Amino acid sequence: KSLKKYNTFGIDVLATEFIEITSESELEKILLKKEEKELFVISGGSNMLLTQNIDALVLHIAISGITIQEESDDFVIISASAGENWHDFVQYCIQNDYGGLENLSLIPGYVGSAPIQNIGAYGVELKDTFVSCEAINIASGKKQIFSNTDCKFGYRNSIFKNEVKGKFIITKVTFKLSKKNHALNTSYGAIENALVDKGIISPTIKDISEAVIQIRKSKLPDPSEIGNSGSFFKNPIISLDHFSKIQNLHANIPFYKIDNQNIKVPAGWLIEQSGFKGKRWGDAGVHEKQALVLVNYNNATGKEILDLSKRIQKKIKDEFDIYLETEVNII
Ligand code: EPU
Repeated sequence: KSLKKYNTFGIDVLATEFIEITSESELEKILLKKEEKELFVISGGSNMLLTQNIDALVLHIAISGITIQEESDDFVIISASAGENWHDFVQYCIQNDYGGLENLSLIPGYVGSAPIQNIGAYGVELKDTFVSCEAINIASGKKQIFSNTDCKFGYRNSIFKNEVKGKFIITKVTFKLSKKNHALNTSYGAIENALVDKGIISPTIKDISEAVIQIRKSKLPDPSEIGNSGSFFKNPIISLDHFSKIQNLHANIPFYKIDNQNIKVPAGWLIEQSGFKGKRWGDAGVHEKQALVLVNYNNATGKEILDLSKRIQKKIKDEFDIYLETEVNII
């Protein structure tokens, strides 16, 4: 079976076997029969680059459902199953006036993969509202609960990318969201500007969601039109000394201070400076409005995208002495 429509990069590789999983019991049954190495799990397929056929049973996690676990006047504890579309879940929360996820509008993918890389955008990260997730241990078939601290969240990082990488299938994620006095985050410049443009002085969570959607649509390619996995690289963190050397040559370099010793610089800026923005080789390219996003215009292979990413990494290393770490999982 072709996996082209199951990964947002739209890479056409084949799976030996494929099953759509719609319930936890179905999943448990399969795990009893199969060894870890015979399985490959795909969720929204929004953070992977497939570079070869998958010689395994591909499990597409499509378990759906949203449940309120607990509620008071001020907050709600709400769970979403792994196969819920992330943006649809965010919109469901906004319609019900549950605050906390509005800045994370329009991020591609499913709820189940959101904790793996601690999705983040416009000043908010998943970990800010995440309570826990349920996950099934692939080897034992046993269910385990991971609390917020258990997940060891960091910038685009969690335990699921490290110690227990590939060992668990996340089936459900629980959030604590506000029902009133929403703690809005409008600190990100582009959000502030969008609200000012619309003359909005006291924004609702819906206003923020709409601003985020507008910003994302203006910069980021829609995976249903042009294959991509969002940011291909992480924004690198470099020492203050290293940063100062670059700033001496490029006074306009954007940056975020992490602490007194460390500075995060936008990979998109570095890639644009190196001349890659908007360039295209065959069907593999660098997005014209956001250089951090690699794109598949139609029939690029995973290998072609991977080769392009390596050329970018080499150029940035040569030019700025910075190693760009990939954010996307290379399979
Ligand atoms: N920039 C350039 N050229 C580019 C792209 C960016 O000069 O081609 C400059 C911008 O002008 C700006 C700075 O870089 O000064 C930052 O750009 P932007 O606000 O677009 O954010 P980013 O750091 O490139 C990160 C996330 C995005 C997230 C945005 C907004 C990472 C790896 N990426 O991008 O996440 O939407 O911030 O919060 O942290 C994703 O992970 O898939 C993703 C899209």
